[in-house]
Amino acid sequence: MEYTTLGDTGMTVSKICLGCMSFGDPDWREWVLGEEEGKRLVERALELGVNFFDTANMYSNGESERILGEALEGHREESVVATKGYFQMDESDPNSGGLSRKALEQELQHSLDRLGMETIDLYQIHRWDYDTPIEETLAALDDAVRRGQIRHLGASSMWAHQFAEALHASDRLGLDRFATMQNHYNLVYREEEREMLPLCDRENVGVIPWSPLARGYLTRPDEAVDATTRGETEEHLYRHPYRDGGGPAVNARVEELAAEKGVKMAQIALAWQFHAEPVDAPIVGTTSVEHLEDAVEALDIDLSASDIEWLEEPYEPVPVSGHD
Ligand SMILES: NC(=O)c1ccc[n+]([C@@H]2O[C@H](COP(=O)([O-])OP(=O)(O)OC[C@H]3O[C@@H](n4cnc5c(N)ncnc54)[C@H](OP(=O)(O)O)[C@@H]3O)[C@@H](O)[C@H]2O)c1
Repeated sequence: MEYTTLGDTGMTVSKICLGCMSFGDPDWREWVLGEEEGKRLVERALELGVNFFDTANMYSNGESERILGEALEGHREESVVATKGYFQMDESDPNSGGLSRKALEQELQHSLDRLGMETIDLYQIHRWDYDTPIEETLAALDDAVRRGQIRHLGASSMWAHQFAEALHASDRLGLDRFATMQNHYNLVYREEEREMLPLCDRENVGVIPWSPLARGYLTRPDEAVDATTRGETEEHLYRHPYRDGGGPAVNARVEELAAEKGVKMAQIALAWQFHAEPVDAPIVGTTSVEHLEDAVEALDIDLSASDIEWLEEPYEPVPVSGHD
């Protein structure tokens, strides 16, 4: 395993973060693994040297957090655990979502309880809350850091102008600032290169992209996109603009380069992430131990500057996606 320092937190994380949206409760999404298989995945990740895990309160309505917490028993100190809050957790309670002090304090406590942990290494706001001033959110998060419930703060998909405003507000008010950005970024969705990634670079914010394999689109040829249960059933896969613009041409080049190097398409897509300057650690989603092993092996793939240029060349701008 290779490790890196996450933004300016000083924390050492594996260059692969295991995305834990893939396990929890199969009733939540058809392609989600149940408890025992999820735990096996975490166990194998630990054996492979992965020490960085990303979950969220909303994944399988909390089951992902609970299972991750149990799977990490005995390995808590050597692991870096990231979770998120924002989405409404209880349909009948509007204060179970959003980023008000009340919602954050309550939902953070629920996350800690499910994880069975006293402290979360990285607590991220899953989305921007248009109804709560960012100063209110930052003050509540800063208090949670002082209480020892959170070590570092992170944010996820939003507009760069919002993230800049949040960083500025925390500096202005002397509050803890967001140390990481978890954003949508992969070979067929590169809109983040316009504003967000340069901002993160300038502010030394750690970048941990979600859906680095474009929810599976970059792991198989374009025409086979619906060949898996997730490919068949996940609406997000089709809502994101992966097949717009140059998407299919990029997909074909990933396939061609993978064949040339004798590796898998997923490994080329991940190798591109590992070579991307602003990226600290992509958050890889998988339901398969073998695919997790593929991701680790991809760290050894060397892409030349011309390979990278060739993979990137067909990309065309697409509508912004992933903020909703
Ligand atoms: N902040 C946010 O808003 C946000 C949004 C989405 C996701 N996330 C985070 O990002 C993580 C990853 O997201 P994701 O699951 O959407 O994206 P992803 O990693 O881009 O794609 C996962 C898909 O790729 C397939 N795959 C992975 N490795 C493969 C391999 N070697 N060969 C063939 N197929 C392979 C998986 O299939 P198998 O299951 O068969 O391996 C799965 O269908 C999540 O777990 C979550 O932690 C965050």
